[in-house]
Amino acid sequence: MKQIAVIGGGTMGNGIVHVFAQNGYSVNLIDVKQEMLDKAMATISKNMDRQVAKEAITESQKLESLARIACFTDLKSGVENADLVVEAATENINIKLQIFRDLDQFTPANCILASNTSSISITKIGSVTSRPDKVIGMHFMNPVPVMKLVEVIEGFKTDKAITETIMELSKKLGKIPALTQDYPGFIANRILMPMINEAIHSLHEGVAGVTEIDTIMKLGMAHPMGPLQLADFIGLDVCLAILNVLHDGFGNPKYAPSPLLINMVTSGDLGVKSGRGFYDYSHGTKELVVAPNFK
Ligand code: CAA
Repeated sequence: MKQIAVIGGGTMGNGIVHVFAQNGYSVNLIDVKQEMLDKAMATISKNMDRQVAKEAITESQKLESLARIACFTDLKSGVENADLVVEAATENINIKLQIFRDLDQFTPANCILASNTSSISITKIGSVTSRPDKVIGMHFMNPVPVMKLVEVIEGFKTDKAITETIMELSKKLGKIPALTQDYPGFIANRILMPMINEAIHSLHEGVAGVTEIDTIMKLGMAHPMGPLQLADFIGLDVCLAILNVLHDGFGNPKYAPSPLLINMVTSGDLGVKSGRGFYDYSHGTKELVVAPNFK
């Protein structure tokens, strides 16, 4: 496994590129616009600076890692020599299916096609390619350079040898892989999203305020972030999309997204990325200020 390609330079994509490059892999980063690639590279550089400041890496290691990354706006040129592609595009099934149809055409026949999807079926993604045995889920957690887990998702047709390769590769990246089967939400989001949804229901019903809900879960359960802060961090649109996958996939009303979450997403309050969710981020993320709607 020498040449990696990562599709999408957003939060997850740039973190995945960061980790591969830092572990010695040559990485092609592909996104639709040059400005997105520039933004991704600036974020990777800034996040590596944090590691330099903490003396986790040296300045020259940072520069060597950055030199392993090449940027492309053309998908075919970016993936034609890849041994592994990790797709980290937007969490939309139609976009992902089209990307995998294209990847199937443009990549070498033995290239492994992985998706960083947080909940879309790997079996479904594999079914639009001629190589479902080489399609697998490689679900990193945000922030990717910090979080140890890779949730590896085996599709219905994934070859066991491919699963083994991806488990080993995750370890080479300094991560700890955990294997799951391909059912809605896999494990991470099947368990995380109902907790977040329940926190939003509790807020909506007036059982407690934003600060109280997050304080109870942070201090009471030793979670690094309360569920409402975490929802803002993940993106409320992403949380809603995942809950819809769980609700549709299991047909069980217990996964129905909170009407408050739906209203927030509809109105454009998406959390950190839009500047407002349960908290107001107009002055940054360091100090938690409850959003005006919830005061
Ligand atoms: N790149 C590199 N380093 C980073 C970083 C990044 N993007 N973000 C944070 N760091 C580093 C910091 O430099 C710092 O390093 P040291 O420990 O060496 O000092 C460390 O991480 C902690 O960061 P901060 O001091 O800035 O802040 P913190 O202590 O509040 O931690 C946090 C921040 C790591 C994000 C922590 O709050 C946390 O673990 N939150 C929960 C994250 C979580 O649950 N992620 C999963 C989300 S779900 C998901 O991703 C999947 C999905 O499908 C929805």
